[in-house]
Amino acid sequence: MDEAWQNWMRRALALAQRAWGDTHPNPLVGALIVENDRVVAEGWHERAGGPHAEINALRALGRPPRKGASLVVTLEPCSTQGRTGACTEAILKAGGIARVIAGATDLSRAHAGNGFDVLRTGGIDVVTGVLAGECADLNLIFNHWAAHSRTFVALKTASTLDGRIATRAGQSRWITGPEARADVMRWRRYFPAIASSAVSVMADDARLTSRCADGAAEWCPAARFVFDRSLRLAEAIAKGRKLRVFEDAFAGRTTVVSSNAMEHSAQAAVLRRHGAALLFLPTENDSVFFETFKRHCADTGLTGVWVEGGAKFLGAWLRARTADYLFHYTAPVVMGDAQALPAFEGKECPSLADATVLHEVRRTSLGNDTLTRGRF
Ligand SMILES: NC(=O)c1ccc[n+]([C@@H]2O[C@H](COP(=O)([O-])OP(=O)(O)OC[C@H]3O[C@@H](n4cnc5c(N)ncnc54)[C@H](OP(=O)(O)O)[C@@H]3O)[C@@H](O)[C@H]2O)c1
Ligand SMILES: [Zn+2]
Repeated sequence: MDEAWQNWMRRALALAQRAWGDTHPNPLVGALIVENDRVVAEGWHERAGGPHAEINALRALGRPPRKGASLVVTLEPCSTQGRTGACTEAILKAGGIARVIAGATDLSRAHAGNGFDVLRTGGIDVVTGVLAGECADLNLIFNHWAAHSRTFVALKTASTLDGRIATRAGQSRWITGPEARADVMRWRRYFPAIASSAVSVMADDARLTSRCADGAAEWCPAARFVFDRSLRLAEAIAKGRKLRVFEDAFAGRTTVVSSNAMEHSAQAAVLRRHGAALLFLPTENDSVFFETFKRHCADTGLTGVWVEGGAKFLGAWLRARTADYLFHYTAPVVMGDAQALPAFEGKECPSLADATVLHEVRRTSLGNDTLTRGRF
């Protein structure tokens, strides 16, 4: 594969990431226009409803591309009229572009290779699959949504090498170092929703927002969910406990997720009186519970949820087999205490064949820590 193509694609990937977390339900996309082996214009997709990356690159050029120009783009150009016109149409109309160098295929049924066909039929040379793995990895949420019309749920945990997230007394701050914690903030920023459990939110007074060291303002996702089947939060709040998810500037985005059995309870009344939004889901079993939650997210346009929690909560997700992805940070630390809290609790694993295996695994070094992530 041409090395120059890869270098241009790397640049396009960097451009795409400028809109990190801002494009839902659309993908992150970056594009370049190259003339005589020189990059002459750049563009990226900034937000849903705004122009696509290819259009922004063409606009940035400000004139028709020279004959023989190449367009480099991280994702297959769209070939259908959405909120904006089809990019394939704009590329053909611009004239001059002789070659399109693309990264990943758009998995939506309406596209899925169709964009490439339209361009080829229009006489453009199309090269596909340049840094395809990197380009696809950029859009974990969008790809899942495009292929399955389902919300992408990612679990996050941070543990010692022996898989412990807190001491037996509950001390958990901090197992991982500053680089890993900054990386968590970056990934939180990627998701349109963040969820955690009542126990974890109370233990850490978690904000479920993203705070970056670069001085950027605290960022809150469109939705925050606190899972609390038995509404134990009510007692704490009635006693005057102030939790940041209900008190901060984004309190209106917090919803407590509970079970149907609690809908008419005294605890629900307490939470309602304190202004909390409540969502009741059936609980015959965890699979139904979590599946219904995912459907609720899809129905309300939330394409991805970042889920943090302790042993019981993440263990329940794992057992229910309804999560799609795992982010597991590990620190080179060993507790060596079988009573310390594990990352996942409660799953009987009679044989290795019953263990959960991750696919498409990626590993990143973060200071002394490691992020291992992959698909369930
Ligand atoms: N290192 C890390 O990455 C990390 C992250 C978060 C928390 N932590 C630590 O983990 C500890 C808390 O862990 P934990 O195991 O005690 O609590 P947990 O697993 O975080 O949470 C249990 C809570 O989840 C609720 N929940 C809702 N739906 C559930 C379901 N389907 N299945 C199970 N639980 C459900 C439970 O409600 P019901 O009881 O009413 O069912 C309960 O409030 C804290 O020390 C915290 O600091 C570590
Ligand atoms: Zn487009």
